[in-house]
Amino acid sequence: MKIGFELNGKAASLEIEPRETLAEVLRARCRLTGVKLSCEAQVCGSCTVLVDGLPVSACTYLAYEIRDKRVTTIEGLADPPGRLHPLQQAFLDHFAFQCGFCTPGMILAAKSLLDENVHVSDEEIIAYMSGNLCRCTGYLGILKAIRQASAEMKATWKENRSTS
Ligand code: FES
Ligand code: FES
Repeated sequence: MKIGFELNGKAASLEIEPRETLAEVLRARCRLTGVKLSCEAQVCGSCTVLVDGLPVSACTYLAYEIRDKRVTTIEGLADPPGRLHPLQQAFLDHFAFQCGFCTPGMILAAKSLLDENVHVSDEEIIAYMSGNLCRCTGYLGILKAIRQASAEMKATWKENRSTS
């Protein structure tokens, strides 16, 4: 079947098999290998991408479901291309990764959280991020990074409010 969708801000269309997962399609056909596969059972969050701004586990999400929707992967986050998203910069600043395997999914889940509510508490960050597992870092750097990005995005949010 042929599907049309938006991929990282650009119109896209693909011929896919109805049984193919979104992770298979993004990695193998779109060459977006920032989508990581680990448990492949909707447990670890490594494969998280955003569909219409909300996080989904691409390992179990069927690709045909993205028809007419917006898909964002880690490759589409820097905006404009080349300038890191505040979350990407904050993960670097706080060394919030070691092997980096969980990082794309972590950052995309955190983006969805901060887009929904930039005024989050630590408790809300911890609860929201509980579906994204990391085997390396111990989570403190990740929490600090999300906190930093939230503060930066809050400042931009205030600035936009005062100029609108
Ligand atoms: S690889 Fe999809 S949730 Fe673990
Ligand atoms: S940095 Fe290695 S799994 Fe998270």
